[in-house]
Amino acid sequence: MKGFLLALVLLAAACQTASAPPAPPAATTADERVTFNNQVVRVFQRHCQECHRPGEVAPFALTTYRDAYARRDDIVDAVRSRYMPPWKAVPGHGDFTGVRRLSDAEVDLIARWVADGATEGEPHDLPAPPKFPSGWTLGTPGAVLAMEEPFTVPPRTRDVYRCFSIPIRVPGDGRFIRASEVLPGNRKVVHHVVTFLDLTGRSVELDRAEPGPGYTCFGGPGFDSPGGLGGWAPGYPGIEIPPGVAWRIPPGARLVVQLHYNNPGDAPETDVTRIGLHFTSGPFDRRLHGVLASAWNFVIPAGAPRTTVVARTDVQEDLEAIAVHAHMHLIGRAMTVTALLPSGRREPLLRIDDWDFDWQLLYYFKRPVALPAGTIVEAECVYDNSPGNLRNPSKPPRVVRSGFGTTDEMCQARVLSTARLKGRG
Ligand code: HEC
Repeated sequence: MKGFLLALVLLAAACQTASAPPAPPAATTADERVTFNNQVVRVFQRHCQECHRPGEVAPFALTTYRDAYARRDDIVDAVRSRYMPPWKAVPGHGDFTGVRRLSDAEVDLIARWVADGATEGEPHDLPAPPKFPSGWTLGTPGAVLAMEEPFTVPPRTRDVYRCFSIPIRVPGDGRFIRASEVLPGNRKVVHHVVTFLDLTGRSVELDRAEPGPGYTCFGGPGFDSPGGLGGWAPGYPGIEIPPGVAWRIPPGARLVVQLHYNNPGDAPETDVTRIGLHFTSGPFDRRLHGVLASAWNFVIPAGAPRTTVVARTDVQEDLEAIAVHAHMHLIGRAMTVTALLPSGRREPLLRIDDWDFDWQLLYYFKRPVALPAGTIVEAECVYDNSPGNLRNPSKPPRVVRSGFGTTDEMCQARVLSTARLKGRG
């Protein structure tokens, strides 16, 4: 196929609505009656409605009493099991911002509401609906990388993984990025987005080799990438790096945008996903530095319920970790990422006990985590290749090897870090 053309649109006129956080639930006493209007809706506003509202990714809304009443039993199951809201990091392993987990008190509150008959309550208790941002949440970008040609997702299809190769043309001095945000074009079908920088030009060949816009890709983009410009999953805030940190797009790089589409509907849906970049000109005293612990050449026996693979990488200079991301495919079960510090101390960076390929988030640390030179970053990946694993794509299970395909596996931890710029104090 001849070049899938994607245009750089400058100063996109997308507008942004500021959103005020909804009021926290009022304190209750044990005998005060929990109603939808007085308390439960406040929990939904804060923790559920970013996805459970019309036009968003969740399959039903949780905005009105009627919505919630109809789903009350499923809601209790989902919050008790911590299936919802989707947040995979186990507390106590990494101290993150934007934690989406419900407190035990919030879980109890929802359970109590349902146990007490799931009543609506008084109209005057109902808080105003929160305003959710539409469009860019980080403000109007300085440049937008956009697909010029829409991609059509056929009706009743699941798990379409497609990569689109985008030339990066950035104006004048705007090569240093301060923030990056992925804006899915069609939220009904975009499940998640990952981006990869391509310094090899390989994505152009892969695109040419397949008809239609883009090319099929699953675990990775089909080549080694030094990292990307962020990604998107429902509720994903975009990447913002701390001031003073230089984040440079390598000259000549292309951006490969990997889309995961699901279209449960009866009509074809089209999507044009965009990436907004925000620039800065410094001054800088640090630069962004990606740490990748990745295991290759591993084999997971057919039928084995628990196989552990370890990936390690050495830290060569003093770093500060700002975020961590874990990656496996479908038979991944659990993953821990640990920094083995030169002092001998083990610093937990991330632990996921209930891996779900569909919810791969970038977890931002509240405070930068020091990774001195000599630290080893270790990822321990656990796989379940037994027939009992409902997510196993091979029935019956087959031997699984490392690779980028749907039925291959990966074991990767990326630690987004900063390093001191050379020649500075
Ligand atoms: C980040 C987006 C997001 C947030 C936040 C979120 N959900 Fe969901 N929810 C989804 C999606 C997507 C699905 C359907 C796919 C799935 O099951 O993963 C879903 C499914 C569900 C289901 C159906 C589960 C089942 O068994 O099929 C329930 C119930 C639910 N959510 C309740 C909640 C509640 C209650 C909250 C807040 C406490 C919440 N969700 C927060 C995205 C979200």
